Amino acid sequence: MKHDSKERYGSVSKTFHWLMAALIGWQLLKFGDRIAEGEHWVGETLVPWHVSIGTLLLVMIVLRLVWVMTQRHQRPAQDPATARLVKAGHGLLFAGMLLMPLTGIMVMLGGGYGLTAFGLEIFAKGDEIAWAATIGSLHSPLAWALTVLIIGHIGMALTHHFVHRDDTLKRML
Ligand code: HEM
Ligand code: HEM
Repeated sequence: MKHDSKERYGSVSKTFHWLMAALIGWQLLKFGDRIAEGEHWVGETLVPWHVSIGTLLLVMIVLRLVWVMTQRHQRPAQDPATARLVKAGHGLLFAGMLLMPLTGIMVMLGGGYGLTAFGLEIFAKGDEIAWAATIGSLHSPLAWALTVLIIGHIGMALTHHFVHRDDTLKRML
């Protein structure tokens, strides 16, 4: 089923969720630049895709949010006791997925580096832009905050599956 239902997420939501989870995992490897200044296999092979994949993630999150809006009346039901907390948690994950690429792009424009994704020039190199660099300085703290959120999110998914033994994880698989 393409669409979500009260029982489970549909194929479109699942594809967005797992493809983006994998690409975000890839993006977080950028923390590896803190080890030996990125002079290792991960830093030299996977991390150079950071700007291209980040830009792709911006397109994906916009499409995903539009999809979520169309599905909002037919998504899996949450336990009423924790529904608000779950909504807030997922909301923060969505906010993180939107703010990471936006602030990342601000790092590039603020530094005057321009923006090129997959070899395609989107913004040419230019002068430094102080206000953009200021917004860009939020990129790293947001990356740490998103990492904590993701760890909590995965922890909750595994708790549902192995401790409560309910269908929360299965409906996203
Ligand atoms: C979901 C998307 C993204 C995630 C999860 C992400 C994650 C990260 C992480 C974890 C770091 C390392 C921060 C640190 O060591 O403190 C980083 C740094 C960086 N990212 Fe991203 N990023 C994303 C998108 C982007 C985009 C779209 C761009 C540019 C267009 C970008 C440009 C940069 C740059 C230039 C740095 C190094 C400068 C800095 O640390 O402020 N990122 N990012
Ligand atoms: C191993 C990694 C992950 C696991 C096991 C996992 C598991 C799940 C599960 C079971 C749900 C359904 C929860 C429910 O119905 O209440 C869910 C939903 C969700 N997950 Fe994850 N997740 C993972 C990674 C991520 C990552 C990296 C992000 C984004 C940064 C993310 C963002 C979301 C969001 C926003 C939802 C709400 C439903 C939607 O609209 O897609 N997840 N996840």
